[in-house]
Amino acid sequence: MSKRALITGITGQDGSYLAEHLLSLGYEVHGLVRRVALEQPQQRLGRLRNCLEDIHIHPSNLDSYASVFHVLSKNRFDECYHLAAQSFVAESFSDGFSTMATNINGTHYILAALQELQPDCRFYFAGSSEMFGKVRETPQREATPFHPRSPYGVSKVAGFHLTVNYREAYGMYCCNGILFNHESPRRGFEFVTRKITYGVARIKSGLASELRLGNLEAKRDWGHARDYVKAMHLMLQQPKPDDYVIATGETHSVRELCEFAFSEVGLDYRDYVRIDQTVFRPAEVDLLIGDASKARNVLNWEPRVNFVGLVEEMVQSDMKLISAGNEKDMPREVATPVG
Ligand code: NAP
Ligand code: GDD
Repeated sequence: MSKRALITGITGQDGSYLAEHLLSLGYEVHGLVRRVALEQPQQRLGRLRNCLEDIHIHPSNLDSYASVFHVLSKNRFDECYHLAAQSFVAESFSDGFSTMATNINGTHYILAALQELQPDCRFYFAGSSEMFGKVRETPQREATPFHPRSPYGVSKVAGFHLTVNYREAYGMYCCNGILFNHESPRRGFEFVTRKITYGVARIKSGLASELRLGNLEAKRDWGHARDYVKAMHLMLQQPKPDDYVIATGETHSVRELCEFAFSEVGLDYRDYVRIDQTVFRPAEVDLLIGDASKARNVLNWEPRVNFVGLVEEMVQSDMKLISAGNEKDMPREVATPVG
């Protein structure tokens, strides 16, 4: 009998790669999606185009306990990967209330419904290096104290502790992945890697003449999403539930990312990048670099793609996207990426 997995946030970057990975392992894959996704499949299910026919979609609203309870009362799962979240840090400063509601209550609803209906289902929570925020040590590891710097970071710390609490209080198999930034050609256009690689492709193709960015000195540990979803799956295959940092152990500034991405198409970033004060955040996370030794030792997990490979893949993919002439078909907010 194949295992059955439920993925919340299946329409996102990680959800789509995880669905493909689990299908390749023989899983029966189910996903929770917002009902609106079924009304606009072209835009909202686009990342699932490779596997849409092979997965089971359940319309559900993470903002409603009844809606989550309904899906879990009708279907049994061996594993649940809870990835759905308002994941854009900048947006969490604009509307911290809805970020908190979705990210904290949504996580609590899933955990509470699982405990009530299927406590043996293994649970993965998408924790984040944003929880380390104003970092207390470098590199960051599982034991590094949290000091979140945004409503998003605060919401992830709450989700982390809820996950630990269900593990300790009810003996449920609940794991936290503490994942550092991971990107891909499927990354949302609002995140800095994609904003840069898509901006580079537009400038190279004569569609734009500049790229407006905020803090170029922030440093991140950037890996590839395809590598990171494999770690999520490995966490749920261990004899005991635990929490793991997933990272490459390499850090680069946004400036270095610009330098490298522009040079990939023979351009100098200094001729095109303009600083836009409106994109700076009220509180910044200056430096992230992870120590994934525990994941290497216990999960036997290794990232395959490094920073250079990641940026090359993303720039080349965006060059192809534009040369295929798809830009005019994109929704406005995608055609004009925002901060
Ligand atoms: P993403 O591309 O932004 O995907 C987010 C997913 O959450 C989408 O499927 C989205 O659905 C869904 N979602 C958002 N609000 C929802 C709501 N109110 N109800 C139901 N679904 C909702 O994010 P990602 O990069 O794949 O990240 C996946 C998870 O890992 C997130 O929890 C993120 O916070 C966390 N994480 C990401 C990184 C990273 O670097 N990528 C690092 C650490 C942790 P729609 O398509 O309908 O909007
Ligand atoms: N988005 C964006 N746009 N960021 C910019 C820009 C810009 O124009 N200019 C500079 N930055 C800087 C941000 O200030 C931040 O320091 C850094 O680039 C990375 O920003 P994002 O790509 O938006 O990602 P993030 O690090 O804030 O959050 C991502 O990684 C977290 C894990 O550490 C998201 O995927 C989160 O969901 C995830 O938890």
